Amino acid sequence: MNTSELKQAIMQAKKDTGTLVLAHTYQDPDIIDIADISGDSFALSKAAAKMPEVRRVLLCGVRFMADTVKILSPEKEVVLSHRKATCPMAEQISPERVRAFRQENPDVCVCAYINTSTELKAECDVCVTSSTAVKIVSSLPSKKVLFIPDQNLGSYVAKFVPEKEIILWDGCCPTHHSVSVKDVQDAKAKHPGAKIAVHPECRKEVVALCDFIGSTSEIINYCKSVSDDVVIATEKGVCDKLSRDYPERGFFQLAPTKLVCPNMKMTTLQNVYDAILGNFGDVIEIEEELRLKAKRSIDNMLKYGG
Ligand code: 13P
Ligand code: SF4
Repeated sequence: MNTSELKQAIMQAKKDTGTLVLAHTYQDPDIIDIADISGDSFALSKAAAKMPEVRRVLLCGVRFMADTVKILSPEKEVVLSHRKATCPMAEQISPERVRAFRQENPDVCVCAYINTSTELKAECDVCVTSSTAVKIVSSLPSKKVLFIPDQNLGSYVAKFVPEKEIILWDGCCPTHHSVSVKDVQDAKAKHPGAKIAVHPECRKEVVALCDFIGSTSEIINYCKSVSDDVVIATEKGVCDKLSRDYPERGFFQLAPTKLVCPNMKMTTLQNVYDAILGNFGDVIEIEEELRLKAKRSIDNMLKYGG
């Protein structure tokens, strides 16, 4: 089947199997085209929290995103589009380490980026996404906050909430952390006059040189709202989709060889078709006691971030 036939077959298979497809903005634009809902991590979590009539969900993205859907909707069959698609940040600190930290620092609130395993979420007080982190951290009751695992998002948040004492972990997204100041300087030289939009998972010295900072969906909205050319400093999927949907606009990828997330790019359109038919992907199972513990921190995120 060619791409357009495959897309048609997917639309039919979704109907036949009653499958709702959620896709993260980093997925291939063809996958986003056939998705029922696409967006950043927070948009996908919110969608997962309110779709009682849906029995089956295929999440095109990485494992923590499918886990979040299952944590919020245990009665649904939740399938991850590719068994091996995991975010390396999800396990950059162990649950034991968080427990030990808590015992030594009982007055600290533990805040986990949503890019964490279910086991880690179960040890934390609240989750945040890149679009909700500042709002949620500023509303936490305690003055001291341990922010895990992304040092870059953590230091971005710390700048906006000087009233809190934020303890950073040393984790990072290998894809975004690889972008250098020189990459930004090169892009500025190549596209003079263009704005630069960056994801807060990039290093703070990179973020400091950019015009707009936001989650993947916020970057897309920013690009649509300005008339300038924009250089995009987040995973390639965002620029690919914008360039394809708005061919008359000047959208340019910053550091195109670096900003490709190998995990987000594992899923192909064919995989999506096969997964809808039950022949590919991974059905998510989470033990109930663990799910309930992890759900607390996601519920808090939806409560404070919504
Ligand atoms: P968003 O919250 O912006 O979707 O980011 C998720 C992610 O994995 C970024 O690398
Ligand atoms: Fe994880 Fe980075 Fe890939 Fe996002 S881009 S899924 S943070 S590795």
